[in-house]
Amino acid sequence: MSLTRAAPKLRDTFLPFHVPSIDESDVQGVAETLRGGWLTTGPKAKQFEERFAAAVGSPRAVAVNSCTAGLHVALAALDLGPDDEVITTPYTFIATAEAILLAGARPVLVDVEPGSLNIDPVLIEAALTPRTRAIVPVHFAGHPCDMDPILELARARSLRVIEDAAHALPAAYRGRTIGTLGDCTVFSFYATKNLTTGEGGMITTADPDLEDRMRRLALHGMSRDAWKRYAQGGSWYYEILDLGFKYNMPDIQASLGLTQLPRLEGYALRRQEIVDRYRRALGDVEELELPEPPRDGRHAWHLFVLRLRPERLRIGRDEFIRKLTEMQIGVSVHFIPVPLHPYYRGLGYSPSDVPVAVSNYERAISLPLYPRMTDQDVDYVSEVVGWIAEKHRR
Ligand SMILES: Cc1ncc(COP(=O)(O)O)c(C=O)c1O
Repeated sequence: MSLTRAAPKLRDTFLPFHVPSIDESDVQGVAETLRGGWLTTGPKAKQFEERFAAAVGSPRAVAVNSCTAGLHVALAALDLGPDDEVITTPYTFIATAEAILLAGARPVLVDVEPGSLNIDPVLIEAALTPRTRAIVPVHFAGHPCDMDPILELARARSLRVIEDAAHALPAAYRGRTIGTLGDCTVFSFYATKNLTTGEGGMITTADPDLEDRMRRLALHGMSRDAWKRYAQGGSWYYEILDLGFKYNMPDIQASLGLTQLPRLEGYALRRQEIVDRYRRALGDVEELELPEPPRDGRHAWHLFVLRLRPERLRIGRDEFIRKLTEMQIGVSVHFIPVPLHPYYRGLGYSPSDVPVAVSNYERAISLPLYPRMTDQDVDYVSEVVGWIAEKHRR
């Protein structure tokens, strides 16, 4: 076997898996909020909701302090009980299944499509029971789920669709923006996300009743928020109408969202360029499977998830990652499927029920992908990945 790739020259500095895109306008925006004296949910949060809703084309949006909180209030607003089932994917961050449990229902895990790693609509149909109340699809890595069959199944059975769009900003499915399809769509502004407020989330919905209920649940079930009570002309009086949570987004965070939002499209283009560059460099490496391009829509490219082909390699995923780290490259793995976590095993979930999720997790590696990466960074990662693959070819 002849090796064609030369050993790459080791970088001087570690390339982190993620670096947020914070610029001077973000710093100024937060400083202005701090100087303005209104720190918690107020005018900035309201403005961020309005601008975010306009950006995704939804009539309404509710800002919350995380996507997990958003999923929780969206599901809590459906008044689920212990006999209710909510269908979701095992190939997700635990927040998705956790929110269903916290809302009082039982998550039913339906395996994923081998290409996109999104929930498989064909298998959803088989998992429906008279107890099914909602479906929570996750647009994994920013790849839009095949929503038409999911929405069709939901419509036919009066089920609610709450989309976990933590990765899917900006994304679209058959010409429709993610954020306008299901009953609610929940976005994340966690530190590593495509738009960040440090921690934060947003729920979009077209349903005014759901909006009111979620808004109330996100703030103790209160009849009026603090801005309405403490601002000039406000009244001190409120009533508690629901058992709620403390999930409101403070203005300090919202001001970060406001300054980040105008840059989102530019960042999305840069993400696409990086993905194209990875593809050109790694497309012919036979030991690797590159992420599938979107079938019919726009991918948000939050993550670039490689899958190793174990039949072509003498090393496994964990060893591959060790070698990348030795070469000063930070990587990650998305995701440990829900039934592999001890708590969920304790609830009776089994990895053998979701074999596609488990076998893909075992060979997955997420490469760095963020707008601040230079072309040289992308080329270095590609060179190292290609070299490790060739060196350990079977
Ligand atoms: C698919 C998915 N859903 C939900 C979440 C939770 O988001 P947050 O950290 O904003 O609560 C994440 C976070 O990483 C995620 O990846």
